[in-house]
Amino acid sequence: MEDAKDYGAVAKLAHWLVFALVAVQFAVAWTMPEIGRDTRPEGLVAWHLSVGTLILLVVVLRLLWRLTHPAPPQLPTVPRWQRSLAGLVHFLLYAILLALPFLGWGNASSRGWDVALFGLIPLPTLFADGSRFGHALGDIHAACATVLLILVGLHCAAALYHQLIAKDRTLRRMLPWSTRS
Ligand code: HEM
Ligand code: HEM
Repeated sequence: MEDAKDYGAVAKLAHWLVFALVAVQFAVAWTMPEIGRDTRPEGLVAWHLSVGTLILLVVVLRLLWRLTHPAPPQLPTVPRWQRSLAGLVHFLLYAILLALPFLGWGNASSRGWDVALFGLIPLPTLFADGSRFGHALGDIHAACATVLLILVGLHCAAALYHQLIAKDRTLRRMLPWSTRS
């Protein structure tokens, strides 16, 4: 049945890869040393920049894929307001996943740090060393990371609601081992 289709293999792979990278990124962010004027981009801080730029790459590729490969239609049993709310939360998740790395990258540039894609491919400087604007982006970056956590919490609660209370196929449509297409 058309309405019961799963997400495609690429969409599933991208979803769970981003989930894993974001989990690692928060673990690194919460254990790296506090970043101050004299901090150098070494150790866990370097890992934060590397994993963050990798997230940016994967999210850009994922979005390009999504724009050319629409998601399967939602289950007909899901009420209209839940579909609209899910659409809004998914849009906000993509927007924050895209904005967060740029905010961090801008802040890193203003600290005079070189940013490279996974520490290997040099990326351009977004703001001059010492830029006050770039510096201010650091607080916005950290605040947006908190908003991402809240959205992911809502998103997971919704997935569990569908699985445990509504008992429909919403979660299974995204699981790697489910293959209804
Ligand atoms: C989705 C990707 C990212 C997430 C979830 C994330 C998350 C975080 C979090 C939670 C903090 C606050 C750490 C703390 O003080 O407790 C932080 C700080 C920071 N992040 Fe990221 N980050 C991401 C991507 C990046 C990228 C790509 C860069 C740079 C290339 C970056 C550079 C920084 C910098 C410089 C700080 C310190 C900001 C300041 O205190 O002024 N982040 N990040
Ligand atoms: C970093 C964590 C996560 C992020 C950023 C995230 C992001 C997203 C996004 C953007 C979509 C929309 C896909 C599209 O239609 O293009 C989505 C769908 C979905 N996600 Fe997540 N997700 C995360 C974690 C999880 C977890 C832990 C679960 C399960 C408990 C989950 C279950 C689902 C399901 C079931 C869908 C399909 C929803 C539907 O059919 O309407 N996600 N996710």
